[in-house]
Parts: sequence; C-alpha cells; structure tokens
Amino acid sequence: MRNASDATIVNQKRWDALAERHGRGDDEYYDVAGFLAGGSSLTDRERAKVNAAVGDVAGLELLHLQCHFGLDTLSWARAGANVTGVDFSAVAVERARRLAAEAGLATGVRPATLPQTNAQAEPDAQAGLAEEAQPAAQVRPGAQARPTVGFVQADVLALPSELAGRFDVVFASYGVLCWIRSAAEWMASAAACLRPGGALVLIDMHPLVNMIESADPLVVDFPYAGEEPVRFDSGTSYAVAGLDAEASETVQYAHGLGEIVSAAAGAGLRVESLTEWFDEEIDPKLARSPDGRRCSWCWSRRTFRPVHRCGAGHGRSVPGPPVGSRW
Ligand SMILES: C[S@@+](CC[C@H](N)C(=O)[O-])C[C@H]1O[C@@H](n2cnc3c(N)ncnc32)[C@H](O)[C@@H]1O
Repeated sequence: MRNASDATIVNQKRWDALAERHGRGDDEYYDVAGFLAGGSSLTDRERAKVNAAVGDVAGLELLHLQCHFGLDTLSWARAGANVTGVDFSAVAVERARRLAAEAGLATGVRPATLPQTNAQAEPDAQAGLAEEAQPAAQVRPGAQARPTVGFVQADVLALPSELAGRFDVVFASYGVLCWIRSAAEWMASAAACLRPGGALVLIDMHPLVNMIESADPLVVDFPYAGEEPVRFDSGTSYAVAGLDAEASETVQYAHGLGEIVSAAAGAGLRVESLTEWFDEEIDPKLARSPDGRRCSWCWSRRTFRPVHRCGAGHGRSVPGPPVGSRW
C-alpha cells in the first residue's frame, strides 16, 4: 500500500461488499423490516443528543456523514428533517436510494444540483413521505410538509463544495473516525458544511474500545491514538454473524480523544460537550466483563459548534501498516 488513496480504495471495496450484504433479513444490527414497517433505526441516545444540540429536527437541514445504506438517514427524514446522506461506497448509496423509494420517502431535490465529479448526483426521482410518518405537530412553522431526501457518493474528506455552509446539523455515528486517516481533515470537512448556528453531533466508538479485539482473553491489537494506519484482514462483519464477505482487507486509524478534540478546535469548532458512556445501550459485550463486572468500555459523543469556518485539508502518505484482524 503506497499511499492514502490506496487505503481508501481498499476500504471502499470492503464497504461495497458489506453494503451489499447488510440489512438483508439475517442481520443482528440493521432492522430494515422494522424500519419499513414504520420504525426508526436511531437509538434514544442519538435522538436525545441531536435534540439537545438543535432541538426538533423537523424542517432542519441534516447532513449524515458516512451514512452506509441510509437506514439512519431515512429515520431522520421520518422525524421531519431534510436529509442528505454521504458515503463513499457506490453500493451503499445505490441501496440507500432504493430503500428511500421502498419506504415512500422523498428523494433528491437538493443533491440533484451536485456536480458529477467528486460526487455522484442523485437521480431526479420524487416520492412522498407517508403522511402518518410525519405528524404535522413535528413540523416547524415554515417547514416543508415533505422532507427532501438525497444521497451523495463522495469521500468525506473531499465533499462537493455545494454542501458547504448549508446544514443546521451534521451527524455521524458508530464507526466513523476509525476509517479516516486524519481527524483534522474530517473535522474541517464537517465544519465547512455547517451554517452559522449549526451543530456537529458525533457519536462514535470510544478509542479505548477500538483497542480491544477480544475481552476474554484480553487481546489488544489497535493503538489508542497516533493516526498511523493499521491493516486488518477479516471477512466477518459486526452485523451479520458468520459472514465471510469478499474484500476482507481494511485499513483503520486510531484517533485518541485529545486528537479528536484538538481537531475540532483546529477546524474552528467550539466543543460544547463530550460525554463518555459506561452503559450497554449498543452492545452489552462492550460494557460488562464475562463475569458480569462493569468495564470501562464506553462510547463518546461530542457536540461541536462552529466559531468560524475552515476548508478541508489534503493527503498524507501511508507507511507500511502492521497486519491484524477485525471487522
Ligand atoms: C460503520 S459504518 C457507519 C455506520 C452507520 N452509522 C450505520 O449504522 O449504518 C461506516 C461507514 O463509513 C463509510 N466510509 C468509510 N470511509 C469513508 C470515507 N472516507 N468517506 C465516506 N464514507 C466512508 C463506509 O462506507 C460505511 O458505510
């Protein structure tokens, strides 16, 4: 692997394979049937933290970074937000668009204006949000009756300029920064998309949790921080048990809390809060040791607001990475 773009290609292939396979009914993580039946894939924690940052999302412009095949993005649309989901996986974006249509959610008003260069523009499809999915009481005065939904294929570190300065809230969750070579570049990208008064809400795996391959026996196979690329080779998936996906190789990066908060500050964002959780909302295995004692596995969440805007930076070379196995 010679440079960062090689790492991006490796990860893209991996995520194309997972996006094809996730949410197909034998999934322990993505409940597509429940979503199509009218449910939301968002956790209480995600909803509460976004609500604390920007209030009711109805009528707001929400950018979902690294949206995978769009389940959470479309759940935000069900809550009334005008949503744009971004992912670098063409397979994920295509599935997200199909899921939007299947769910009867509006698609593509704003992303249809995006250029075809870095981002693949949304087709001009239109569909309606089911009336029962959007109670009138949730819609702010002046908000559109039908939220717009669009998906853009783009590297989060090279977002199309049309997304700049447009969003009330930029959101990303659970499995975000470990795929990104530079927390500073990621924060700059996210900050550039916020409009004045907007907020970034990021809920991610705690860097301590990312270090742990196995709790019993304890196997630590990933650094806490440093942003050096680490190569893994594993066909399994966090969502589908026993999955032996093609494209088993990944390159991941460790970002410590200090690096993340400094990156936010460097991108001109004011850190309003940083929460570390010690409960088991997402994965009980991460919060308890095998004999039931509470462990320090935790999740973190940050809300950031822009003090001023920064543009995205570019590139860094990738030295020969060590090999491990996870994901
Ligand atoms: C663990 S998933 C995100 C999970 C998401 N919150 C969900 O529950 O569906 C990570 C996502 O990041 C995307 N991704 C990784 N690196 C990216 C990059 N450089 N630019 C855009 N998307 C990226 C992957 O394609 C994948 O969909």
